Amino acid sequence: MVLKGDIYDLIDQRRSRRKFTDQPLSLAELSYLLWATQGVRKLSDDRRQSMRTVPSAGSMHPFETYVAIHNVDGVKPGFYRYQAADHKLAFLREIKNQREAVAEACFGQKFAGHCAATFIWTAVPYKTEWRYVTESAKLILLDAGHVCQNFYLACESIGCGTCAIGAYDQDKIDRLLRVDGKDELAVYIAPVGKVGQPA
Ligand SMILES: Cc1cc2nc3c(=O)[nH]c(=O)nc-3n(C[C@H](O)[C@H](O)[C@H](O)COP(=O)(O)O)c2cc1C
Repeated sequence: MVLKGDIYDLIDQRRSRRKFTDQPLSLAELSYLLWATQGVRKLSDDRRQSMRTVPSAGSMHPFETYVAIHNVDGVKPGFYRYQAADHKLAFLREIKNQREAVAEACFGQKFAGHCAATFIWTAVPYKTEWRYVTESAKLILLDAGHVCQNFYLACESIGCGTCAIGAYDQDKIDRLLRVDGKDELAVYIAPVGKVGQPA
């Protein structure tokens, strides 16, 4: 993995990219993207509180990261969940026609599944609600913006591209992840893949 560009260039070059090459991502690149978006820098002794690479209101960090892996070197395609505290990926399951299933759940946006991997962030509202009560919906979505912005810039820094996706079918995505849509629900999606020359 070669990191390129200083922060000025990365911000300047950032754009939403919806066309990816067939090149796989390496495991190191996937690991870097997970770290950049939800990586844990410091964990309390009881492992309940964390400081991460992204800010979060009250450091509640209400997200889980799921990755639909389609084309990552040496990694079996399937749905995975990021175990942030240990920086590990847990295999969940294989899904038939995974790329199509993801794209369909994004209202047919093909690029959502035609990529090396699709990141899907869920929120566990209670993690913020116990403290911020009525402010939580706003705070959780503000937090999500930070995660995806880091994702954009980290993608740019390794010759990859992404496009934030907010247009998805809530029930379909939640069902793919097997979350209940209440105590845990999908809030943001972003595919990643290698890009050729910037358009
Ligand atoms: C919250 C949010 C949701 C978005 N949802 C989608 C989407 O579902 N599909 C899509 O193609 N682009 C989506 N985008 C990308 C925007 O269309 C894009 O950021 C905008 O056109 C500006 O282009 P740029 O990112 O290249 O500067 C979304 C962006 C944001 C911030």
